[in-house]
Amino acid sequence: MKAVTWQGAKDIRVTEVPDPVVEDPTDIVIRVTSSGLCGSDLHLYETLAPFMEPGDIVGHEPMGIVEAVGSGVPHLDVGDRVVIPFNVSCGHCWMCERDLQSQCETTQNTEHGTGASLLGFSKLYGQVPGGQAEYLRVPHADFGAVKVSKQHPDDRYLFLSDVLPTAWQAVEYADVPDDGTLLVIGAGPIGDMATRIARHRGLRVIATDLVDERLDRVRANGVEAIDISGLEGSEVAERVRDLTDGRGADSVIDAVGMEAHGSGGVKAVQKLVGLLPDAVAEPFMLKAGVDRLEALTTAFDAVRRGGTVSVVGVYGGAADPLPMFQMFDKQIQLRMGQANVRRWTDDILALLEQDEDVLGVESFATHHLSLEEAPDAYATFQKKQDGAVKIVFRP
Ligand SMILES: NC(=O)c1ccc[n+]([C@@H]2O[C@H](COP(=O)([O-])OP(=O)(O)OC[C@H]3O[C@@H](n4cnc5c(N)ncnc54)[C@H](O)[C@@H]3O)[C@@H](O)[C@H]2O)c1
Ligand SMILES: [Zn+2]
Ligand SMILES: [Zn+2]
Repeated sequence: MKAVTWQGAKDIRVTEVPDPVVEDPTDIVIRVTSSGLCGSDLHLYETLAPFMEPGDIVGHEPMGIVEAVGSGVPHLDVGDRVVIPFNVSCGHCWMCERDLQSQCETTQNTEHGTGASLLGFSKLYGQVPGGQAEYLRVPHADFGAVKVSKQHPDDRYLFLSDVLPTAWQAVEYADVPDDGTLLVIGAGPIGDMATRIARHRGLRVIATDLVDERLDRVRANGVEAIDISGLEGSEVAERVRDLTDGRGADSVIDAVGMEAHGSGGVKAVQKLVGLLPDAVAEPFMLKAGVDRLEALTTAFDAVRRGGTVSVVGVYGGAADPLPMFQMFDKQIQLRMGQANVRRWTDDILALLEQDEDVLGVESFATHHLSLEEAPDAYATFQKKQDGAVKIVFRP
């Protein structure tokens, strides 16, 4: 089959690889009909290169049609339509029983000290072959695979794999008071979807970004958008305080993560680490502070005293300097982590199966491309060119 494989930093290719097969009773194999490209793929594309190996199949946002079913997957048959969560979780361990599927103890990667395995996601997360491919083996499909109806087009359901549950958890963790204001930093796919979920719940939402079309998209959904280009240091937080009686937002979501715009020095270090041999770069990244913290420090500055910061953007450093005095003095509450996808999918699916597309998911993707176009798509998405906000491959 054809698959999108990582070959080196900023070197993504479409290659021929063996067809996947059912290996364990709880596996299924699907024919992939749609597969998303995510901001998390961009971290692998360049910054997290030391943890990748040439030939790794990438992608963690797939859906498709069941082609083969292991003997331990009673809820599925060949021909069923399924969406696959990006977490690989068992559903019955101590963590899964507590709805912490991204910490699943059956698939945790103890040798790296990391949580549950993730599809298409580097050595740190189990090196599980990913979903930007014609076919995909789905481990633990007895719990993971979400069966959906055949009523609506793929894009109605596809974002259940990652964007929707991730944004949903970000809003839950932000714990916005009923009459409160939510600030969403970053209006990429995750930030944009978080604003839609919060607006659907009737909340007041402010968002920031520096890309015009991303700001326009959130404005169209009733969000007050702040263009941060040209603003420096605490000026973004000042703008937010101006809009919130001088106090700051009740809750803030950081939907940017480690590759934030505006952290020049660390960007240079990230590039340098990307050029080092893996044997040197891996321990360096695990010990040093390599994150660009612009979005996170803005979150601590822009949240009101006693407010909550929900971090959904991915960070990877081990010694990042944080403004502890400000965080302590302002009594900031902090929640973060990889989404527990299956924790939220039933609630979200109930919304998606309605006739009306309440979250606008069917018009969410800006590009639908073939797998062959993946190398260009990664480059375009990284540079935020061509109006690319959400790219979906149709293998
Ligand atoms: N926690 C999870 O389970 C989970 C799941 C999926 C994605 N993520 C992470 O969420 C983050 C966002 O993902 P995405 O797909 O939306 O990616 P993206 O890269 O398209 O979006 C990031 C957005 O932030 C904007 N931005 C950059 N610096 C900024 C700054 N200083 N202030 C305001 N905006 C800024 C960019 O212009 C861009 O629009 C990534 O870090 C991704 O890895 C986390
Ligand atoms: Zn994703
Ligand atoms: Zn588990």
